[in-house]
Amino acid sequence: MTTNIKKYTGKHIDVSFNRKRCIHAAKCVRGLPKVFNLKNKPWIDTDGDIADKIAEVIEKCPSGALEYIRKDGGEQEIPSKKTTIEENANGTLFIRGDLSINQGEDNIKSNRASLCGCGLSKNKPFCDNSHQK
Ligand code: SF4
Ligand code: FES
Repeated sequence: MTTNIKKYTGKHIDVSFNRKRCIHAAKCVRGLPKVFNLKNKPWIDTDGDIADKIAEVIEKCPSGALEYIRKDGGEQEIPSKKTTIEENANGTLFIRGDLSINQGEDNIKSNRASLCGCGLSKNKPFCDNSHQK
């Protein structure tokens, strides 16, 4: 949903973050702490590294909470041709592919998503870490 999405504008790359879809997998903050740093405000510095690196780390975000748009002529994220699903021990389902996900009346296009497999999420079909309870 658009209201949960915050946009961060950079010179070469724009980044968007959907806080409701973040499952705190920390791939971003561990992968590129000079760009993704919770101690900073704003916590994403879109000019903190070259766009290639920022894009590379964002593509590792398993939830799809982070997305980017290149403005420097660099390649935009290409969804994997095959749709793949992996389950972790909590029941979260990690999906990659050219996804079209319905949530209420919204149809969400995404290349990455973590979906709830435990049934407890309040943001279904997405995992919201409620499985931890
Ligand atoms: S990598 Fe994605 S899911 Fe993990 S903390 Fe960062 S934004 Fe959240
Ligand atoms: S699997 Fe995470 S909330 Fe259900």
